[in-house]
Amino acid sequence: MTTQEFSVPDKKMGELKTQNGREVLFNASANSAATGNDGLTGQLFNAGLGLPSDFNAESKGKIALIKRGGDLTFQVKVENAVAAGVAGVIIYNHEDSPGPLSFNVSGDIKIPVGGITKSSGAALLTDVVAENKTVTLNVKELKNLTSSNIIATKAPEKGGSNEIMHVSAHYDSVPFSPGANDNGTGTAAALELARVFKDYKLDKELRFVFVGAEEIGLVGSKHYVDKLSADEVKRSIANYNMDMVATAWDKATVLYTNTVDGKPNLVTTTANEVAKLIKTPSTLFLFQRGSSDHVDFHRVGIPAANFIWREPVTNNLEPYYHTPDDVLKYVSSAKLKEVANIVGASVYSLIRKK
Ligand code: BES
Ligand code: ZN
Repeated sequence: MTTQEFSVPDKKMGELKTQNGREVLFNASANSAATGNDGLTGQLFNAGLGLPSDFNAESKGKIALIKRGGDLTFQVKVENAVAAGVAGVIIYNHEDSPGPLSFNVSGDIKIPVGGITKSSGAALLTDVVAENKTVTLNVKELKNLTSSNIIATKAPEKGGSNEIMHVSAHYDSVPFSPGANDNGTGTAAALELARVFKDYKLDKELRFVFVGAEEIGLVGSKHYVDKLSADEVKRSIANYNMDMVATAWDKATVLYTNTVDGKPNLVTTTANEVAKLIKTPSTLFLFQRGSSDHVDFHRVGIPAANFIWREPVTNNLEPYYHTPDDVLKYVSSAKLKEVANIVGASVYSLIRKK
């Protein structure tokens, strides 16, 4: 097993606490200013929709609580607040959503800025604004960050071929989402397959690639593929990528095999044959989609596909995707087993010692 470390871009991390110590989910905007280590403590005031008329001489040095929506963009709301001399801006959502509002502003913003949920906004209006209390905003800039790919390799039996099979799953998730299905499930399936394959005799090299930093732009898989030598790329026969392989959302009944060009390849054709052979219950459907770690394998010419459950016809993903609701309760063990069976049997059929 090897660990492959790589750099990832700087990022902002925000925290919001009320005067009585309650933590509020807060999403710092990418262009927010950082605060000092102790954060910024200030009185919170209701700045309506963030119109110029929502501010006055009293606003100076306080933290503005602004509602999303109306005619103004996030950018203009923030600019109006800055012009009024506020010390920080918190924008709350105007619609229900499980995670805090995420928005970006451009330019050189000199104050901390970020988003919260609609219900957090309502709670702050009653518990903090109406009570003339303060909040503490803490925004840190995290620098020199790294992530890692974890690679487990099983060598072929003596006299085997020098070809390589890659099974991948990203193990990171997005902020405010536990990532049970995206992608605890792909990670669990890959771990289980690694456990099972340990005792099988193989004719080709098998690599399990646990990928970091997928969610910030496929950074880990790009690093892994770029580190393969030209010879390794040439010897690579396929990439089976598992990402969101066990949603319990009842509408996601079809197992999509996503390829970057929408065309079938060794991965998808083998999966289809094997699914018939071992009689798994669900339909497989070939679809054109990137957005996961199979993209970089495809880029260098390795047949690659991503396995993911979706709703047929609409192609919808589960509603829990990238939210705080992506939890174990919405993971299906039957779906997990089905994908692990299809991917495991496909991989075995391609690399077993005959
Ligand atoms: N598992 C998701 C999404 C996904 C959807 C993958 C459909 C494959 C097919 C993945 O982790 C993700 O969220 N990807 C990002 C793109 C990435 C480049 C940051 C996305 O789709 O927004
Ligand atoms: Zn994912």
